[in-house]
Amino acid sequence: MEKKKEIVMSGIRPTGFLHLGNYFGALRNYVKMQDEYECFFMVADLHSLTTHPDTKELKANVHRVLAENIASGLDPDKAALYCQSHVFETSELYLYLNMLAYTGELEKTTTFKDKVRQHPDNVNAGLLTYPVLMATDILLHRASLVPVGKDQEQHLEMSRNFANRFNHRYGNVFPEPIAFNYGDKLLKVPGLDGTGKMSKSENQNTALFLADEDDVIRKKVMKAKTDSGPTENYSQKPEYIENLFLLMRLVSAPGVIKKFEDDYNNCVIRYGDMKKQLGEDMVHFISPIREKVNGILSDEKYLKEVMEKGAEKARKSAKATMVLVKEAMGLNYY
Ligand code: TYM
Repeated sequence: MEKKKEIVMSGIRPTGFLHLGNYFGALRNYVKMQDEYECFFMVADLHSLTTHPDTKELKANVHRVLAENIASGLDPDKAALYCQSHVFETSELYLYLNMLAYTGELEKTTTFKDKVRQHPDNVNAGLLTYPVLMATDILLHRASLVPVGKDQEQHLEMSRNFANRFNHRYGNVFPEPIAFNYGDKLLKVPGLDGTGKMSKSENQNTALFLADEDDVIRKKVMKAKTDSGPTENYSQKPEYIENLFLLMRLVSAPGVIKKFEDDYNNCVIRYGDMKKQLGEDMVHFISPIREKVNGILSDEKYLKEVMEKGAEKARKSAKATMVLVKEAMGLNYY
């Protein structure tokens, strides 16, 4: 008998253009995993409502994220690619799991505290229970592997806690999901300003988006922070320089990386040349994806079909889980 494949689940919020952090932290692994595992990847439109209540742009943003998934190599015939709000079982399991989540632990979540700081006038209950909704997405498919970037680590830990709490209280239904990056540490792609992570919402000039035009990419890279160079051989790199090398390791050829590493270690590095090279390598990497996205976006009919097919697969899996959940909870008395 064929061994049952492990189940993989992950998602991306449709709150703006996707950037290289999303690509290398998440999408790259989605594409690798679709051949080895049973995969569920979704556009987290419900999550986006916690911070973006205005839905005028939502449809266009959902389409864009779907197109960016596909242009990055995701095949909707291999993985289920769907929209979170199309899987109605999500709301049901979310409700049950909310009874197992404590307000104290939710209030302590780093992302909650960050969002309260960023949007003090919209601290809604959905924001507080964001990690419960994310655990729901994962547990709904009884997934065990979750390809995500470093910023999602705490949410995964909370998902494991909710799964365990459910299993202890009602019976074993859920595996413990783990954040996954092919045996490597989870990735945090830095921004171009030398500090922090690349992000959709913070300063747009410090993120490289999959939608950026070639000249925009070159300009952004040339503006990255550098200095006059090291004065001692093999000295430790300041964070903003280390981050430039980190970006280079993502897109440049090994020989190129070695040349600039050697130049740094021998104090002959010219950061202008390094940024020019990095800019070209970024253009080379991003422009084919951008072109594909534009092609896919122009075919609304295709995107609708992808979403329908994805929702059908996801709902089938979600329904099977909900039968087990209700049985375990003793809610099957009709
Ligand atoms: P979101 O939309 O913020 O980001 C999507 C994915 O991109 C990764 N990521 C990064 N990785 C490395 N470096 C960066 N600078 C960087 N920025 C973003 C994120 O880690 C993520 O994997 N809560 C999730 C969406 C979600 C989800 C889920 C994820 C909803 N339900 C279920 C997994 C499973 C989020 O806001 O991702």
